[in-house]
Amino acid sequence: MKENKNTPPCAVPLAGLSEKVPKLFGIPSGVPGLDELFFTFQFESDEVKRVPLNGLPSSAVIHLTGVPDTGKSLIGEQFSITQASRGYNVLYVTVEIPAPFLAQSFIERSKALKVEWDNIKDRIFILDTVKYPELRDNVNNLCQILSDTIENKEINVTIIDSITGLYEGREMMARSVVRKLYEIMKKYYQSAIFISQKRSSHEEASAEAAGGYAVPHIVDCTIVLSKIVLNSKAAATMYGRKPGEVLRTIRIDGCRMCGHDSRVHLLEINEFGILQVGKPLAEVLR
Ligand SMILES: Nc1ncnc2c1ncn2[C@@H]1O[C@H](COP(=O)(O)OP(=O)(O)OP(=O)(O)O)[C@@H](O)[C@H]1O
Ligand SMILES: [Mg+2]
Repeated sequence: MKENKNTPPCAVPLAGLSEKVPKLFGIPSGVPGLDELFFTFQFESDEVKRVPLNGLPSSAVIHLTGVPDTGKSLIGEQFSITQASRGYNVLYVTVEIPAPFLAQSFIERSKALKVEWDNIKDRIFILDTVKYPELRDNVNNLCQILSDTIENKEINVTIIDSITGLYEGREMMARSVVRKLYEIMKKYYQSAIFISQKRSSHEEASAEAAGGYAVPHIVDCTIVLSKIVLNSKAAATMYGRKPGEVLRTIRIDGCRMCGHDSRVHLLEINEFGILQVGKPLAEVLR
């Protein structure tokens, strides 16, 4: 049956949706070790097999949350550079850092990832809401610009750093702000990362973001970053580290698009400032 705007909506059988079902595949994140944490299933000769997705789930809106300095922006930048270097156009909406300073960070990060600046400089588009607060404060205006940019620049990947800044001082609005942004991402089949900040009062490893539990319920997948300061000899010995070191961790809290590892893993910053997923914490604890 043809869709007609004047007829009331009616339920359709799953078969009627098969043409619209997006293919699920892995989108390389540019964070070594992260892609292997997602998987899907294959049904073959009466057997169900678990197969790695080798990337973030395609067309998913991923919510990345954590307290300050846990590596959220680093992941956003590594993902952007990796996707641009593979020929996809990326939209990075900056809510915290003015565009020129963000560009400086992209230059440094691309060197560390051994990606030629010339290969990505025309593929990463920065939308600076620091310069245009009218975009930051009015989600409808922002959604209009996002739609126009995604269409005109043929964007495949969108990062918002951070959604928290879009409901600053009015956290009651968090759910409606995030839902509008989510709907735009879905409309254009974007593979997206929404970065959000956690308050220090939130339980360290929980998915609760500033704006409350509302945010993780809307998005497709939530990844929690956290850090532990090893401020005693006993704590350091337990993790096989030295007192005073900071241990960063990553955990996929939930994902409704595909299967995933749900253990807490170490998150390490290598000598070039590149973030990578390490061993599960259970293997590290003495
Ligand atoms: N080149 C580098 N070498 C070593 N460490 C680095 C390098 N670049 C960043 N870091 C460390 O990584 C940390 C995480 O940075 P990032 O900007 O991703 O944090 P964030 O989670 O986005 O924090 P915020 O919520 O404040 O925006 C930095 O605070 C810094 O300590
Ligand atoms: Mg940041």
